[in-house]
Amino acid sequence: MLNNKPQMAMREILSIDYERYHSIDELPDQDRALVKEAEEATKGAHARYSNFEVGAAVRLRSGRQLHASNFESEVYPAGLCAERSLLFYVESNYADDPIEALAIASNPSERECYPCGQCRQVIVDVERRQQSPIRVIMTGAGSATVVNSAEKLLPFTFKL
Ligand code: THU
Repeated sequence: MLNNKPQMAMREILSIDYERYHSIDELPDQDRALVKEAEEATKGAHARYSNFEVGAAVRLRSGRQLHASNFESEVYPAGLCAERSLLFYVESNYADDPIEALAIASNPSERECYPCGQCRQVIVDVERRQQSPIRVIMTGAGSATVVNSAEKLLPFTFKL
């Protein structure tokens, strides 16, 4: 006779640790400067369809800061998020200067802006390529949530 009893599943719990700053004024100086650059970058957004302006800024190991914003297209899916616009540019031009931190801001800013799934994948791709973690600083409504590696935002990551 066949034993159709289901096997007991192993139940495991995944938890992530992150930093919460009720005010961006409480952030370490370097992070606060990066958030200011991301906020400033929202002004460069082309978001005529969603009216949601996103700014992203990175700090490289050398201390250099770079920023980008989202760009929406007449052909909707052709547009790109601020984070990926920035990461692809940085990977093309500063590949030997690892990214230490990435800050994200938005306008409107009623709540913290978290990166979309595709951007999470690309941030993790960059972490893997450069073999060092990227601190992700997600801001909005004056507060910030920070993870010390993008891997925390994308558990069970796809690997080719
Ligand atoms: N967007 C970003 O640029 N980054 C994010 O993390 C989330 C969404 C953009 C894409 C689109 O231009 C607009 O915000 C609304 O989805």
